[in-house]
Formats: sequence, structure tokens, C-alpha cells
Amino acid sequence: MMEVWNESHLADLLRERLGDAQLVVVSNREPYVHSLEEGQVRCLRPASGLVTALDPVLEAAGGLWVAHGGGAADRKVVDAEGKLAVPPEAPRYTLKRVWLTEEEEAGYYDGLANEALWPLCHIAYVRPIFREADWRHYTQVNRLFARAVLEELDGEACIWLQDYHLGLLPRLLKEARPEARIGHFWHIPWPTPEVFGLAPWRRELLEGLLGADVLGFHIRCHCDNFLDTVARELEARVDRETSTIVYRGHATRVRPFPIGVDFERITRDAEGPAVREEMERLRNRYGLHHELIGLGLDRIDYTKGIAERLAAVERFLQMFPEYRKRIVFCQAGVPSRTRIGRYRALGVRIERMAREINRRHGTPEWQPVCLIREHLSPVQILALYRMAHCLVVSSLHDGMNLVAKEYVAARSDLGGTLLLSRFAGAARELQEALQINPYDVEGMARRLRDALEMPPGERRLRMERLRLTVREQNIYRWAGTMLDALLRLPRKELVG
Ligand code: F6P
Repeated sequence: MMEVWNESHLADLLRERLGDAQLVVVSNREPYVHSLEEGQVRCLRPASGLVTALDPVLEAAGGLWVAHGGGAADRKVVDAEGKLAVPPEAPRYTLKRVWLTEEEEAGYYDGLANEALWPLCHIAYVRPIFREADWRHYTQVNRLFARAVLEELDGEACIWLQDYHLGLLPRLLKEARPEARIGHFWHIPWPTPEVFGLAPWRRELLEGLLGADVLGFHIRCHCDNFLDTVARELEARVDRETSTIVYRGHATRVRPFPIGVDFERITRDAEGPAVREEMERLRNRYGLHHELIGLGLDRIDYTKGIAERLAAVERFLQMFPEYRKRIVFCQAGVPSRTRIGRYRALGVRIERMAREINRRHGTPEWQPVCLIREHLSPVQILALYRMAHCLVVSSLHDGMNLVAKEYVAARSDLGGTLLLSRFAGAARELQEALQINPYDVEGMARRLRDALEMPPGERRLRMERLRLTVREQNIYRWAGTMLDALLRLPRKELVG
């Protein structure tokens, strides 16, 4: 059995290895957003796998988190340097907010990150859009982030950068502070060299990322794609045996670190009275008193296969009419990136599909699809997990998918079945899930029936095994192994 990492294990490791060095985490998305509602400042947790994963790490280790301040009331609660202590109710670390103009945000975040890099890295048959103005904003915003970090450095530092929004930051920081330890974790898939070759700024992006001392992806296949891409695009030494790239004298180790969740915390919270009460509230509010509840829960994003999932639910009702009036499929979709036309169009499409399915199959007392469109609190999410007889994760392509892991962590009652897309990184680890192919609607419908008809003994056994994996591959292991890889590097290897 693998050793199970926990919060204090990670905190001890960092105390021992960091010594006097500062820990700095940098991401686009911030862990706490202050919004304005009816003149009142409200603090929200954004729907983001990255935030769910990193907040417990910073809580355990302390340090500084630098992120874009995107909330309407974000400026109201910070000091003159844009900082505040978080979590607001019991501070454990510092959040420093970086301010962007609307134009910068539109070019760097909506444009380059989400209209170019996101579709480029996910196989979802959506074409990336490349605009020079977006690239200029991306470059400029990466520089702004670099400045915000450099202002804070005072002595040795271990800087952990996150995701595809900040692809140029490793190089910018390495050039300014060669002796700083720089890790970068890319939270989404890395495509094949042919696909990455579509990007006009591929060389700049690769050179940017190769400023990192350690570069992490969720799974081996994404690391291999990255090595292949560099071999194709740059004159670099690519050593596949050690998964290391040497470019202009500086070495970048490319490693898989499968991200996880805070298993113990989710298990504990899901068993609490607040979740039980919330289950009752949700049942009453959405009329969920049926024998069986199916669940889908995602940001509304075309990579998540939500339309494919609803099509499978409809097909299921046609193929297995004995389930009519017995099941309700809840689709909780958190609006995401709504300034982008494709995302808005998907929201409209999903609503239309749900309405149509309900019109075609529903009766006055039974509507097969229940769309939940409100922002869900952590307690509400756990309540939905506990209510659901099955969770369907049907991503067309996904780096990992933490919803699948959260569901498993929430089911200490060993109830519930996970249907998981074979195109999500999580499918490599979660072998006891029922695998689905979101491109095969009828196959998905049949898998849904298999999930509902699974003998209770088998359901428990599968969930028990899934829980062992999610418990071991938890968020503290993810952070601990990546930071350990970075902190173990001999000083002389940092400076290329
Ligand atoms: O899971 C990939 C990811 O890009 C995270 O890094 C990010 O936080 C999440 O999706 C949500 O996206 P956004 O920050 O654009 O709302």
C-alpha cells in the first residue's frame, strides 16, 4: 500500500525543504472572489478545479498566492499592495491580486487563453482562433504577473506557476532570477506536435515554458506529447530516458503529477449534518423525490460533453422505457467564460435540449431532466453527490477531471456509481469506474442502465476500490511530489 499523504505531512515536508525560502503560487484564477450583491460585498469560491486543488495546499503550507483580481469588489478589501489574508474567516496565507484592464483581460484570458490555447489543447473539434492582438495582450499580462511576483521576492524562492494562462512566465522569471526554483503545472492536456504546430506563437510558448526547472502534466501521455513537440520545434536536447529537455544550457524536467482532491476533508464534510439538511432542501426545491437520481456537474464548457450526455439520457429513455417516471437526471452547470460566444451558445443549446427532452418525454408530474443553473456552494455540491445514484462525467477531452474524484471522496456510504469518459485523465487511475465513450450515445445509454442495475455488492466493491485510489492519489501527494521534485534539485542545476 502506498503511503497516504496528508496536510501535516505536506506542511512538514515544506518546512524541512523550504527552509527560509518563500513559497509563491501564481495562477490566473484567484481562490476567493469578492463580488457586489445588492450593495453588499460577498466572498465566493470560484468553480475551478485548480482552486479546489490548491487552496488546501496553501492552507497547509502558508505563503503567497498571486492571481488576477477579477471580482467586482476585489479592490475594496485589499491593502495598498493589493493583498489580503485568506481564507477570510481564518487566514492562513496571503493573496495578492493583479489588476487587469478590461481590454487586457479580453485579449489575454478570453482570447489567447480560451479561444486559442484551450481548443488547441483539447480534442473537441473546435477550431482555435489566433489573433495577433490577443497574443500581444497575453505577452503583456505575463509581464505584469512577472513584475507582481518579482516585487515580492526577497531571498530564496520556490515559485509554482499554474496553467496555460501563464505560459511565458517561467522564462520571464528565470531570466530575472536564475537561482529561483521554478515549477510550472499545465492543468490541461498537451496535444500532439501536429496539433500544437498550428499555433503561430508555438516557439515563444515552448521557450517560455522551458524556463521552468520542473514542468508537470497530469499524465505520461501529455509529457510525451510535450517532449515530441519540443523535439519537432526547437533545437533542444530531448532525453526521453530521463524525460528532461536541455535548451540553451538550462534543463527542464518534464514529469507526470496526477492531481487529486482533499479526500479526508470531502469525506468528513459529506457526512456532516449541513449536507444532510441541504439534501432535503434540494429535494424540495427541485422536486427531486424520485426513486433514482442521475447527476452531471460541470462548468458549462464544450469539452465536458454535456450535450452528448443529455442526448444519451434521451436515448436511455427511448431504449429502456421502464425507467420512465422513475429517474430524474440533474444537470448542474456552472456558467463559465460567458463573454465568449461559443460558451454562451452552448448554454443556450443545453437549455434547449433539456426543454425538448422534457417536452417529448415528460408528463405533468415528471420531468426527466432538471437543469440547475445557480452558483452552487461546496455544501450544495456535496449534497448533490450524496443524492446521486450515478454521476456521469462525459468529457470529450479532459486533463484530469476532479468532479469524478470529488464524487468518489463524497461517497463514504459506498453508494453511487461513476460513469467516466475514457478521454479524461482520471480514467487512467479510476479503473473501477464504468468507462464511457461520449461519442457513442447509445453505448452511453446502455452504460447508464448498467450503472442503475448493478448489483449492490458490486457497486460497493467498485466504490471501495475507487476510494482507495482517490485517497492515495490525493491533493497533498500531488503538491508534495511536485514541490519535492523542485526543492530537491541541486542549486547548480537551476542556473543554466
Ligand atoms: O481545469 C482546467 C482549468 O483551466 C483550470 O485551470 C481552471 O481553473 C478551470 O479550468 C476553470 O477555468 P476558468 O479559470 O477559466 O474559470
